[in-house]
Order: sequence, then structure tokens, then C-alpha cells
Amino acid sequence: MVLDVVVLAAGKGTRMYSDKPKVLHAIGGRPMLAHVVDTAGALPGARLHIVVGAGAGAVKACFSNHSGINWVSQEQQLGTGHAVAQALPAIAGEDGTVLVLYGDVPLIRPQSLEALLAAGGADTVALLTLVTDTPHGLGRILRNDRGQVTAIVEEKDASEEQKQIREINSGIIALPSSRLHDWLSRIGNDNRQGEYYLTDVIALAVADGCQIATTSTGESPEVQGVNDKKQLAALERYYQMRKAEELLNAGVTLADPARLDIRGDVHCGKDVSLDVNVILEGAVSIGDNSCIGPNVVIRNSRIGDNVIVLANCHIEGAIIGNGCTVGPFARIREGTVLEASAKIGNFVETKKAVIGKASKVNHLSYIGDAEIGDDVNIGAGTITCNYDGANKHVTVIGKGSFIGSNSVLVAPVTIEEHGFVAAGSAINTNVPKGSLAVARSKQRNISGWQRPHKDKVKTKTES
Ligand code: UD1
Ligand code: CA
Repeated sequence: MVLDVVVLAAGKGTRMYSDKPKVLHAIGGRPMLAHVVDTAGALPGARLHIVVGAGAGAVKACFSNHSGINWVSQEQQLGTGHAVAQALPAIAGEDGTVLVLYGDVPLIRPQSLEALLAAGGADTVALLTLVTDTPHGLGRILRNDRGQVTAIVEEKDASEEQKQIREINSGIIALPSSRLHDWLSRIGNDNRQGEYYLTDVIALAVADGCQIATTSTGESPEVQGVNDKKQLAALERYYQMRKAEELLNAGVTLADPARLDIRGDVHCGKDVSLDVNVILEGAVSIGDNSCIGPNVVIRNSRIGDNVIVLANCHIEGAIIGNGCTVGPFARIREGTVLEASAKIGNFVETKKAVIGKASKVNHLSYIGDAEIGDDVNIGAGTITCNYDGANKHVTVIGKGSFIGSNSVLVAPVTIEEHGFVAAGSAINTNVPKGSLAVARSKQRNISGWQRPHKDKVKTKTES
């Protein structure tokens, strides 16, 4: 079966009070429209058409890496029927289905769409409807005495009696493509909003002897649209709860499912535990038996097995090996690789650094552009001076070395294996294998030293 998915995304989103096109506002760290594109992509053989108008340039730019989208422009927003009509030239009138989705209804699931498509057919229009206690503002489903759908009436055009109807149109609809061209050519805009309503095709379909089937979703947030920031925030919470449930169902321990944010693709092994206020962004994997402490942000990183990340760490673009300990209060930046059992302590920043097996950087250090071997101990306050004001340079520290506290290592520089740097040294030349480097001014002790005295405060009469 040929399936054309038309996503309506031309609306301005005035009530968002934002310069950003509505469909680019994020749920779970990704634009609403990206969720819809993914969902459509999960339907076998779907051809994707996206109708854009307001902010079209920004919307298209956001999907520039995505091939296979037919962008359809709707210069003026003359209504949902007009919007779908703009996509028709790219849709052959053959035996197929047109599925209409909204760019601002981001959480619809593929399963729900599959059920809707299964209910539709060559002579059947399938509507996704919802029975709700808050139908305000939405199109109402009109049924006859036999319970068959006869039409949809928009709230603004509805009689008082029709406004009492609690079954609403979600807007998501599957239509036979062979008939759609004809129906859309017959709808007018003689209504309270002066718009071409897609919903008017229902009455035309009924008049043409078509069946109208309806399906519904298990949960209403799936068909919830976003018109303002309040609805965006509500859907965000629903999405996060769904993500937390997925993790719980897979056996992850969550200190509080309501205090965890997933903004990407997360894979957790067995017996992983996540404390409160953990934020996982982009592609994150966490291995077996690892524990992530409270207030930790992890972005695009791979965490191995048996890792402990203590409170308040920020980890980005890193690979953390098995058995490592990180934090509390560590900042692990892009290009950091911690090999097995390495330890990073408090107030340590690392960037583009490989830290060898069982090596330790326990306190107050900056390690950038560095290659550190196994079993190295980096003392408190050690700084790799990787930047000369114009270029970045590398510091190499061989296995088994010891860097005394408060040392600065001016790159490019190499400390060979089992090198030893005395505390407080400024090292700017290489240290040979097994040598001690002392690069600090010599201490002098002055005996009989008199401490300075405080000046006596003069009284008024003395002056
Ligand atoms: C529409 C339905 C209504 C349904 C409701 C569900 C119609 C006439 N009404 O009403 O029955 O209950 O959705 O939320 O279809 N859009 C365009 N171009 C346009 C107009 C709209 O792309 O010219 C897009 C909007 O960006 C939005 C979607 O279509 O994503 C729905 O438009 P909106 O104006 O919000 O429709 P409603 O009046 O809410
Ligand atoms: Ca709407």
C-alpha cells in the first residue's frame, strides 16, 4: 500500500510568544517536529510531506541532514484543508492512503497510527478521536442514531447542543488518496473562521457513501496539541514520565521517576541506578552496576560497568571505563577517555585527555590535551598549560609517574615513565625516565626574623 504522510506545520504559533517557529520548540531536547518525523518514519514505506509556512527557512534548516522529506510551502494559512491541498500535487491519486499528522502533536505513537491505518481503506476514512471532559476549542464528532459518524463541526461553528459533545477530533486522519483530490476541490470556506477546513471532507465522504471509522489512543497526551508554553511543559512532563517508565521496565533503579530528564537515546545495563535530578542528553550508555549520583548531567558519553559518578558532575563527549570513580563536582569534557579504574576527584576539569588505568587525579586540577599512562598520580592543583595563546599543545605523562601538588606542566612537554615532579614545580622541559624534576625557587630560612608591628593608633591630642 502506498502511504503518504502529510504533516501540517505551517501555523505561526502566536500563543508561544516566541521568535522560533512553534514546531521547533523541544520536547525531550528535540524539536516537536522531529518526534513526528521519527514516528512517520517508523511506518513502513511512508513518503513524508511537510507543509511549512511561518518560519519555513528555520524549520527546513533544522532538518537539512534528513533526506526524503518533500517540503511543501503554504504561503498563507487558509486552513487545514488548504494546507493538505498544497501537498496534493506530489501525491498521485492512486490506490493509497494519505495520513495527516500535525507538527505540534508530537507524542503520537506509531502503534496508534498503525491501528488507525488498519481501520481505514479505499472506501473508508479513519479518524482518531478522543472522548474528553475538556473538549473546549476542538472539533466535535457528530454521530447519527446508529452511532455512525456524519460530520465534524468546529467549536466556533457549533450549536450549543453540539458543544455538549465530548468526543473530539484529534486532527489525525487517514484518507483514501484516490478520493481526496475530489473532496478537497469541493470544500469551501463559508464558516466562522473563513478557513478551508479539512474536517469538512467527512460530510462529503459520508455523502459519497464512504464509511467513517474511528479509533482512539490509550492515553490522551498522545493526541494533545501544543499551542502555548503551558501545554508544552505539560507534554514534556508526560514524555519524561514515559521515558522513566521505559527505564524502570528495563530494570533501572530510579530514586524518583519524576526527577530525571532524558533528552536523547539512553541505554542502561543491568543494576544501574540513577539518583535524583540526573539529566541524560544525546546518546548515552551506562554499563552494568553503575551508579549515577544526584545532580549529574551526562551528554553524548559512554559510561562503562561498575562506574560511580558522585554528585554534581558534568560529563560530555567522554568515555568512562569500567570501575572508574568520578566526582563529586568534576567536569569531564569532550574527548576525555578514562581507562579502567581511573579516578577523578572533586573540582577536576579534563578535556581531550586520556587517563590511563588506575591513574588518579583526585583534586582541583585541569588536565587538557594530555596523554597520561597507567598508575599515574596527579597531585592536587596540577595544571596542564595546554594553550600558549595561539595554539594548543600536548602533555604526555608516562606510566607510574608522580606529579607533585600545585605543579604546572607547560606543554608541549613529556614526563617519561616513572618520572617524579616535585610539588610546586613549573615544568617546561622533558623529564627523563625515572628522574626527579624540581623546578621551583629554593627555600631560604631567615633566623631571628622580626614580624612587622601594627602602627599605633594616634589619639586626637597627640596630633
Ligand atoms: C484542528 C481541527 C479540529 C481539531 C483540532 C485538534 C480543522 C478545521 N480543525 O483545529 O477539528 O479538533 O485541530 O487540535 O482541521 N495548519 C497549517 N496550515 C493552515 C492551518 C493550520 O499548517 O492553514 C496546521 C497548524 O500549524 C497546526 C494544525 O495545522 O499544526 C492544526 O491547525 P490549528 O489551527 O491549530 O487547528 P485547530 O483550529 O486547532
Ligand atoms: Ca491547534
